[in-house]
Amino acid sequence: MDGKPTINLGLEGIYFMESKICKVDGKAGKLYYYGYDIEALAARSNFEETSYLLLHGELPNVKQLADFSRALSEERNLDDKIIDMIKSVPKETNPMHTLSAAMDLIGAYDKNAEKTADNESTSIRIISKIASVVAAIGSIRATSQYTHPDPKLSHTANFLYMLNGEPKPKEVVKLADTMFLLHAEHSSNASTFSGIVTISTLSDIYSAVVSAINTLKGPLHGGADEAALKMITGGIGKDPDKYIDGIISSGNRIMGFGHRVYKTYDPRAVIIKEQLKAAIGDSDSRVKEIAETAFGIEEATIKRTGQKGIWPNVDFFSGPVYSYVGIEPELFTPVFALSRAPGWCSHIMEYLKDNRLIRPTVYYTGETGRPYKEINSR
Ligand code: CMC
Repeated sequence: MDGKPTINLGLEGIYFMESKICKVDGKAGKLYYYGYDIEALAARSNFEETSYLLLHGELPNVKQLADFSRALSEERNLDDKIIDMIKSVPKETNPMHTLSAAMDLIGAYDKNAEKTADNESTSIRIISKIASVVAAIGSIRATSQYTHPDPKLSHTANFLYMLNGEPKPKEVVKLADTMFLLHAEHSSNASTFSGIVTISTLSDIYSAVVSAINTLKGPLHGGADEAALKMITGGIGKDPDKYIDGIISSGNRIMGFGHRVYKTYDPRAVIIKEQLKAAIGDSDSRVKEIAETAFGIEEATIKRTGQKGIWPNVDFFSGPVYSYVGIEPELFTPVFALSRAPGWCSHIMEYLKDNRLIRPTVYYTGETGRPYKEINSR
């Protein structure tokens, strides 16, 4: 090749496949799962129905949804070996490491893991078990106890039950369920792409999901909501304008702001903000304090960054909402993972339909022909 090729760091603007799963309209601030507007899904659907949509491309009828919900419920149990592994991990371990190891181990024990023809039922198993694993990690860290799943509860109600050892009120379950739905899918984000790269080698669906989990862990992706909440709570009682000026002038980013695709308000953040406003009414004073600080920081940040196209993303208000739901900050990213599992599985299966090994090219800028010197003469 003559001359230096165009380098697209971060693969920005590179199309690598066609997909029907998700449209992110970054200019208009719109998001669609299989053509359905996220606003309609958040208002009228639920996580189980949306997971079905993501795996099948169509909304289910009554029987299809009942069968799907039953299948999810039947997969909730965790083998004792998985629970023992979670219990054996030191308390200070990042829960994303534990989640990744547990899902890999579940794959190791699944005789169907390598059978591509079973990927749809394996996806249901993954969506179900990842929620049980996250609940188990949270509850074992907090109380050293594991709560067995309740097959009568919905996916989200059961997750909160397993996490807390007791059922949560309907309105809390509804809010958590909407959060899971809003996080369920987001096109070729870093974790999904990482899962696709893994499956493109004809590895297996568990390994692809484990790659996605490990990629989600970083603060520029799934870890942003925990970092955003930390930043919000750090601003309690402070003047938001001065607080934000301090962060920006010290060269730091405002966590929960900015997005590679959205150059306007992330539609998921709009919905979460409304949910947070509604929840404040019956929340305790700590959640109110966090929410009001978040609104102040949001306004102060937009004044400074809005013109550059840096607006709140999904993660800015997630922390305050999860605080209301009763989820600890260290569990935010694992909760993001259980929410994103349907999207990962959907993309992995779509890619396999027309698989091609992903193997991009780097532009080599090093030397060639360097003389090899024996170790004693270097
Ligand atoms: N705070 C302050 N400045 C920012 C921010 C921010 N949050 N985000 C971008 N910028 C600035 C950045 O400093 C740069 O400025 P300049 O041109 O003067 O050097 C400019 O905007 C472009 O930044 P970039 O890093 O090239 O843009 P990107 O498209 O790679 O950024 C991002 C995407 C998400 C990595 C970035 O906005 C960021 O770091 N945000 C904070 C972390 C965060 O909230 N992540 C969650 C993303 S949404 C959830 C998900 O999809 O996982």
